[in-house]
Amino acid sequence: MKIAITGGAGFIGSALVRYLLANTDHHLLNIDALTYSGNLHSLPDAADHPRYQFSQTNICDAEKLATLFATFRPNAIMHLAAESHVDRSIDGAGAFIQTNMVGTFTLLQCALEYWRALDSTEAQSFRFQHISTDEVYGDLAPDAAPFTEQAPYAPSSPYAASKAAADHLVRAWHRTHGLPVLLSNCSNNYGPYHFPEKLIPHIILNALAARPLPLYGDGKQVRDWLYVDDHATALYRVLTQGKPGQTYNIGGNAQQTNLQVVEAICALLEELAPEKPTSLAHYRDLIEFVADRPGHDRRYAIDAGKIAAELGWTPAHSFQQGLRKTVRWYLQNKPWWRAVLSGNYRLERLGTGPAKSATQEA
Ligand code: NAD
Ligand code: DAU
Repeated sequence: MKIAITGGAGFIGSALVRYLLANTDHHLLNIDALTYSGNLHSLPDAADHPRYQFSQTNICDAEKLATLFATFRPNAIMHLAAESHVDRSIDGAGAFIQTNMVGTFTLLQCALEYWRALDSTEAQSFRFQHISTDEVYGDLAPDAAPFTEQAPYAPSSPYAASKAAADHLVRAWHRTHGLPVLLSNCSNNYGPYHFPEKLIPHIILNALAARPLPLYGDGKQVRDWLYVDDHATALYRVLTQGKPGQTYNIGGNAQQTNLQVVEAICALLEELAPEKPTSLAHYRDLIEFVADRPGHDRRYAIDAGKIAAELGWTPAHSFQQGLRKTVRWYLQNKPWWRAVLSGNYRLERLGTGPAKSATQEA
């Protein structure tokens, strides 16, 4: 297959690209605008790979997308590009409306025109896969059963609302135009190459620098954590075995309060990085409860029974295994996150970054 992946320089997209290059024979076109969260250093082996191409393209640019589809001729599009951070969406929603809603619309329309021109065999096997979030379902009561695919949409944050809107657009393009779409709604991911604005990498890097570990509100909000490489295998399973028009919930079956997560990170650091930079006695002494996030959802949890029963996918990592691997990765990959923290990864993209950009001007 030839697969066009949007957002392939981001956290989950880069895990997907690394997985597909290592485990399949597919040819990949990574379409990514390289916003602040896009980082080509997250794809260390891709630049010179014979089955990989990169194009620095904004998904709101219809003309450029049409040219890319006409030249690359994808059999599938996996759409991950998005503004992804809830706190940023509270500070300013504009980029979220633009990328998550207008960008998804633009991509859908370009995909539809491309798909309509395919011959019937190619058109039948073509897939448009939309990657979404459990946040579209909103706040889950403490004793409520986890979200199934039938849970009503009730997004709380501007980010979640923009993703919900995108989901509706994708379903409309299937129902109205017949575009063969697949959707998945996934819980919180964590793992290597995670941008350090998100809870887990933020806490690891702050702890290593002996800076405060901020917990919003009482720290008792619950998230269902999935190791990012498990999300990559789930997405490939949905692409290759999912039924067009269907939605699959993906989760780690690993509900944790934020306080539990932060305490688990501190315990791992005590074991793996016992030498602290200051006279700090314990990493957990750095925990600070700070003002809560406005509109903060108390709990998310995913019922991943459908993807398990119908597609045979279950996560390979427990939360304990995945978190240990993640903490180790951050300890062993300081150049990656030091460049992110200093902003140098952004400067390199303007100059001689590591990417091959065969389609850059397409
Ligand atoms: P991320 O912020 O790490 O990466 C997003 C990528 O999209 C970046 O490479 C960025 O450069 C690119 N991008 C942003 N705007 C673009 C635009 N207009 N045109 C082209 N590229 C653009 O995000 P992530 O955490 O990897 O999330 C990927 C997808 O998975 C998103 O759609 C997100 O909603 C969804 N998701 C994320 C999680 C999670 O826990 N991180 C969970 C469920 C679903
Ligand atoms: O559920 C899936 C979603 O998970 C994805 O759709 C989003 O793209 C992704 O960012 C993530 O959203 P969250 O808001 O749950 O992730 P975040 O890492 O920002 O926060 C996780 C929890 O930790 C949340 O309850 C807020 C809290 N938090 C976060 C930060 C950054 C803190 O308490 N302190 C912090 O410093």
